[in-house]
Amino acid sequence: MPAPDGDGSAGEGGAQDLSQESIEGHVAAALRAVGAAGDLDELKQARLAHAGDRSPLALANRAIGGLPGSEKAAAGKLVGQARGKVNQALAARQVELEAERDERILVDEAMDLTVAPGRRPLGRRHVLTVTAERMADAMVGMGWEIAEGPQVEAEWFNFDALNFDKDHPARQMQDTFFVDPAKAGLVLRTHTSPVQARSLIERGVPLYVAVPGKTFRTDELDATHTPVFHQLEGLAIDEGLTMAHLKGTLDRLAEGMFGPGIVSRLRPAYFPFTEPSAEMDFRCFVCRGVATDPACRTCGGTGWIEWGGCGMVNQNVLRACGVDPDRYQGFAFGMGVERTAMFRHGIADMREMIEGDVRFNAQFGMEI
Ligand code: PHE
Repeated sequence: MPAPDGDGSAGEGGAQDLSQESIEGHVAAALRAVGAAGDLDELKQARLAHAGDRSPLALANRAIGGLPGSEKAAAGKLVGQARGKVNQALAARQVELEAERDERILVDEAMDLTVAPGRRPLGRRHVLTVTAERMADAMVGMGWEIAEGPQVEAEWFNFDALNFDKDHPARQMQDTFFVDPAKAGLVLRTHTSPVQARSLIERGVPLYVAVPGKTFRTDELDATHTPVFHQLEGLAIDEGLTMAHLKGTLDRLAEGMFGPGIVSRLRPAYFPFTEPSAEMDFRCFVCRGVATDPACRTCGGTGWIEWGGCGMVNQNVLRACGVDPDRYQGFAFGMGVERTAMFRHGIADMREMIEGDVRFNAQFGMEI
């Protein structure tokens, strides 16, 4: 910071040299200091030293009052012009330095708005989670309760309680994951139907439960199979239930998943735990059963898409769970959540659903 040059001025109250030479010396010193100020802070110091209350010119100005009357006018003009020059120089330098500062800020603080921000990517809910929840919601909307059961299940609940013969092929090694040791009688549940028996025993009748959950079969992973998959099970037991109630329930669930008018169809089939049994389809939501040429690619021209199995609960199951089959009847159904999600979202390959790439799930948006 440039200090005011020695200019021979005396301290306050001392005798002031008001000669033209001395005043011009103060002005010259002030202009040098102003010119040398490299930034606004330095200029502030120069202003204090050369134009402040205690600067030589201010002191000189104050000393005019003590001069004989005849000298006052000339001295006043001399000092006044000198101070005016210094103030002008200060103001001009101030403008210059402010402009420099503003330019520097523009360069130093410039932001590159094209640089990608380091944003933390958001996770997504899995399409299977969302689909299973939506299926369960459709059931809750009809007044049903949600039930759950264990994934490692007693063989008795998975098979025996459901009227599977001891030699039923589904029990064989090629379908079922048995849990060591074999004598423990445990399996990874092959369907959600064991929760039918569990709910009947735990909750009693009348009963309306929907069971979303994970299921396991010894299938190789490919585009249409996965050893770990999901089902939604439904079980209704009450007095006077008929297959018409089953059909109406499936129609509402199909509409809830695929839209108004997408109803269900039943085809005769066999399951040990239902009698009569049926396989169910839902109306193709693309062609809606209207024949097209070429044939609809979604349903292959049949107008229907396979969904799962269902039927009236076999009386042997009711008996195994302590329910009087002469008083209570009911129906059950089960379908794949993967299959439902694949049709709902046009997913061609099951493996995409289990690879865990967040970009896959990001395609389905956020559904709650
Ligand atoms: N549990 C059967 C399956 O996994 C589906 C089903 C459920 C059939 C309920 C009838 C009644 O294939």
